[in-house]
Amino acid sequence: MMEKSLTEENNQENSELLKYRPIRSFVLRQGRLTVGQARALENGLPKFGIQYTVKTLNLSTVFNRGESKKILEIGFGMGEATAHIAQHAPELDFLGVEVHTPGVGALLKLIEELSLTNVRVIQHDVVEVLNNMIVDSSLDGVHIFFPDPWHKKRHHKRRLIQAEFVKLLCSKLKVGAYLHVATDWQEYAEWVLQILQDEPLLKNTALNNEIKCNSTNTPYAEKPAYRPLTKFENRGIKLGHCVWDLVFIRCAV
Ligand SMILES: C[S@@+](CC[C@H](N)C(=O)[O-])C[C@H]1O[C@@H](n2cnc3c(N)ncnc32)[C@H](O)[C@@H]1O
Repeated sequence: MMEKSLTEENNQENSELLKYRPIRSFVLRQGRLTVGQARALENGLPKFGIQYTVKTLNLSTVFNRGESKKILEIGFGMGEATAHIAQHAPELDFLGVEVHTPGVGALLKLIEELSLTNVRVIQHDVVEVLNNMIVDSSLDGVHIFFPDPWHKKRHHKRRLIQAEFVKLLCSKLKVGAYLHVATDWQEYAEWVLQILQDEPLLKNTALNNEIKCNSTNTPYAEKPAYRPLTKFENRGIKLGHCVWDLVFIRCAV
């Protein structure tokens, strides 16, 4: 019998996942794989993919360098921003978690094209990855760019950013580490802001500066320079849409 490829294993595991996952923050669309993505999955997964297991991950071993800072990106989509940021910050290590197979293929393709050595990928539900693989107080940063806003009220329970999820994230962040969320949906920005503000372990960087607080009084951060404008965001900006960045720091207990 032929051995199952990692991709096949991942796909099978993902259908299992649909039945059991607690927050239904994503819909697993099969999506068509381009030839390039399929090839990148075949070649790249063994090199840069980490299989989901119920066992903690030693991030220093995974990236083969102990001292570098470790950034987790949740729901990287097609990996455009991930690859760009990793390319411009070779001193940092990036762990990307995404469920969508074409997206995983797309990021693996970029890793290969740009010869990136500081990116690793897990194709799985991030809630389970955080619960079972990520050691407490081990992350220096978390990026969540344009999480699905789940516009309809009856779908709000599917939003990834919930108080309990943020508590889980806090347990994995080092003291002084950051959580960066960006969204182009105002009502979701307000929802995220409320949840992050209500979390006692987080402090809003936008309110650090008293002058800013008193004059413009905005709880949203300026877009950090490391976050590139994606094609999707550029299109939105041309249509007059706004983007809200929220950057919070993990405080000591
Ligand atoms: C709207 S897309 C944004 C993609 C990308 N960050 C961007 O800025 O273009 C949200 C992504 O989050 C992924 N996602 C949603 N819930 C997830 C979860 N629980 N674990 C891993 N990925 C998830 C989805 O598959 C989707 O690709």
